[in-house]
Amino acid sequence: MKGKVYFIGAGPGDPELLTLKAKRLLEAADLVIYTGSLLGVGLVARARPTAVVRDSAELYLEQIVAMMVEAARRGQLVARLHSGDPTVFGAIHEQLVALERAGVPFEIVPGVSSVFAAAAALGAELTVPEVAQTVILTRTEGRTPMPPGEQLEALARHGATMALYLSAALIGKAARALMAGYPADTPAAVVADASMPSQRIVTGPLSEIAERARSAGIKAQAMVLVGRALDPEIRRTEAGRRSRLYDPGFSHSFRRGATTHE
Ligand SMILES: C[S@@+](CC[C@H](N)C(=O)[O-])C[C@H]1O[C@@H](n2cnc3c(N)ncnc32)[C@H](O)[C@@H]1O
Repeated sequence: MKGKVYFIGAGPGDPELLTLKAKRLLEAADLVIYTGSLLGVGLVARARPTAVVRDSAELYLEQIVAMMVEAARRGQLVARLHSGDPTVFGAIHEQLVALERAGVPFEIVPGVSSVFAAAAALGAELTVPEVAQTVILTRTEGRTPMPPGEQLEALARHGATMALYLSAALIGKAARALMAGYPADTPAAVVADASMPSQRIVTGPLSEIAERARSAGIKAQAMVLVGRALDPEIRRTEAGRRSRLYDPGFSHSFRRGATTHE
């Protein structure tokens, strides 16, 4: 464990959504660098009293990398905490590249991404059989340009369940773009501070969601979800939506039924 940098997913906010591995590494770390803009200080209170704890919001990439490299070369355990899961909008790529160049070993420890905390808060499945079997994780274009082919208008044409990170402040722009593909009455939701005591939920048709989120004063730390899978009406028409996995006539390697299926 020593002499290594761990990129740790700290989950969406609820401390109970920290994985056991994340907790163990955080409690053993010599250097903890955390994303203070997104993670509460309550989390880093778990670090050892002797650990050096730094908020990455005060640091440039080069400073963060230099601290991590120096600590790892001294044989220390470095916990680099990111909100949710580090591999989704975690800005870890540039850090991994720098560590690789420096010859410092690293490991990524997955966490519960905010998209899953938001779905849980809504009590919804993102992949309802025969309604949506694809989830698109994306964002609204802000200062970071979208690569060609990834404009929301184009992605919306799939009609899949869509999760927008980093988009609460741009929700009007996002909703307008999404209506190029989704019908205006497609169910949408904004979940702010998912999994935290301050959690708030706003729901409505896509055409109204921006106004409702604005009226509720939601501007940041929110997940925008769009798609027919969120429609409460599909619960009332359960018969056509049930998954084959638990169908009595569906066999698989763990259960024999009337028919077999891969
Ligand atoms: C820099 S990204 C980090 C995403 C993170 N890696 C993840 O997997 O959730 C920050 C965005 O994640 C979303 N987010 C993070 N925590 C959230 C939470 N507790 N509730 C709702 N959205 C959250 C928001 O869209 C926010 O703008």
